Amino acid sequence: MEDIALDIHVREHTKAAVEAVRDLLPADIKVVHEYGCTNGQGTAWLAKEFDTVVGFDINNKHIDKGNAAHPELDLRVCDVHHPEGNADLIMVAHVMEAYKINPPEVIDNLRRFCRFLLLAVHTAESNKYGPLAQWGAYLEPFTISRVELDPPVTPDCTKADTILLLRGHLA
Ligand SMILES: C[S@@+](CC[C@H](N)C(=O)[O-])C[C@H]1O[C@@H](n2cnc3c(N)ncnc32)[C@H](O)[C@@H]1O
Repeated sequence: MEDIALDIHVREHTKAAVEAVRDLLPADIKVVHEYGCTNGQGTAWLAKEFDTVVGFDINNKHIDKGNAAHPELDLRVCDVHHPEGNADLIMVAHVMEAYKINPPEVIDNLRRFCRFLLLAVHTAESNKYGPLAQWGAYLEPFTISRVELDPPVTPDCTKADTILLLRGHLA
C-alpha cells in the first residue's frame, strides 16, 4: 500500500472505532493507549481528541517512521501481549486478526490495564484461533456495545468492521 493510502487507512480505522462508541464514553476519559498503531496516523487523530495519548506497535520500523513524521507524539515499540501501564481507554484496531494472537487471552490481559477496551476487527476474518465472530459469546458478560459497520465507513477499506466496547477491570 502507498504511504498516503496507508496513512488514511490507519487514521480512518481509529477514528471510525472511536466515533462508533463516542456517546457511550464518559467525559473524563483522558489517557488513551493505542496498540497496533502502525505509523501513528490514528494516534495523531486521538491526540487531538484526548489529553494523554500513547501509540504502541510491535514493529520498530513503523514506530521509527511515525516518530519521524510526528515528533510531537509518544510512539513506542511494544507487544500487545505485554501492555505498558494503565489507561482510561485502550484501543486495538485490526490487530486481533493477526495469525498468532489468541484474542481471549490478549483481551483478558488488556482489560486489567484499563477502564474501557475498544476493539475493531474485520467481521469476516479468521486467525489461527478461529473466526473472529466466535468471540461474541465469550465477550458477552463485559460487552458494553457491539456495533457493526457495514458498509464500512473508511474510504479505502471494503471490509465490514465489528466495533466492540468492553468494560475493563479499572472501571
Ligand atoms: C493491520 S495493521 C492495523 C493498523 C491500524 N490500527 C488500523 O486499524 O488500520 C496491524 C498493526 O498491528 C501491529 N501488530 C501486529 N502484532 C502486534 C503485536 N503483537 N503487538 C503490537 N502490535 C502488533 C502490526 O505491526 C501492524 O502495524
